Amino acid sequence: MKKQVVLYKKLSAPLMARLHEQAQVTLIDNLNAEGLKLLREALPSAHGLLGASLKLDAELLDLAPHLKAIASVSVGVDNYDIDYLNRRQILLSNTPDVLTETTADTGFALILATARRLVELANLVRAGQWSRNIGPAHFGSDVHGKTLGIIGMGRIGEALAQRGHFGFGMPILYHSHSAKPAVEQRFNAQYRSLSDLLQQADFVCLTLPLTAETEGLIGAEQFALMRPESIFINISRGKVVDETALIEALRQGQIRAAGLDVFEREPLAHDSPLLQLNNVVATPHIGSATHETREAMARCAVDNLLAALAGERPANLVNGQAWKAH
Ligand code: DGY
Repeated sequence: MKKQVVLYKKLSAPLMARLHEQAQVTLIDNLNAEGLKLLREALPSAHGLLGASLKLDAELLDLAPHLKAIASVSVGVDNYDIDYLNRRQILLSNTPDVLTETTADTGFALILATARRLVELANLVRAGQWSRNIGPAHFGSDVHGKTLGIIGMGRIGEALAQRGHFGFGMPILYHSHSAKPAVEQRFNAQYRSLSDLLQQADFVCLTLPLTAETEGLIGAEQFALMRPESIFINISRGKVVDETALIEALRQGQIRAAGLDVFEREPLAHDSPLLQLNNVVATPHIGSATHETREAMARCAVDNLLAALAGERPANLVNGQAWKAH
């Protein structure tokens, strides 16, 4: 008998067709109140789940006694309780690699947009306020040759370092769990303690996953170490940063600008003080959001899910402990 799969994200027609060949599919394409109700109704018979951007906590997953696998269409796995999944031997997979370059592009877009004040100045033109040559009040700062500080030297951190080093001639500093000799060699990068990096980098870019250790890692104390001309970029998770402290640092001129793709709460509240600040470039969590990359992520998630439901180890298994128990 075909396995029951619940999708809480719509897939392209070819991927839907592939899933339909192998599984009985229930699609919930909107996670509004009605969608969540349908999800709760579908969970009791589900063997597999595929989707993104939904916290799947114990309260929900307890409704799914037959669940074998969850394929997350994301690299981040902060929406899942890994201990709970291990206890239940539910295989969790994610979609690394395919989104690395696109997410690093987003990071660099934010670096350029904040340093060169692109959004603020484009809005000035659009508002019909470009009446004479602009002067120093509207100048930005250079990106090329400035020091790029990367916190979290995983795949996306490396892809940022590559762009900074080869594309913009930037000295690279990084902070991560441990030193990475291969990265140091490729990009002439130097390891720094967190506080040294914050003091020395012109651009501080966060690419860390959200975990119990990284939650709230960057707060008032850390912003106080940064220089007034430095720029803060976050393409990881909003909760790694104390957003109130960030707003205060921007208001007080402790840092020059911030480029933010992620926020403590998403979608960002329309009345967030961040949106009152001209030196903030805020984007709606678009790290991997291109047609090509989102399709590649979805394909990867489908592969992972079908493998798990066929009793094979998914290529991108997150919780090896659940597999060992099989
Ligand atoms: C990811 O893949 O984790 C992106 O941030 C989308 O959630």
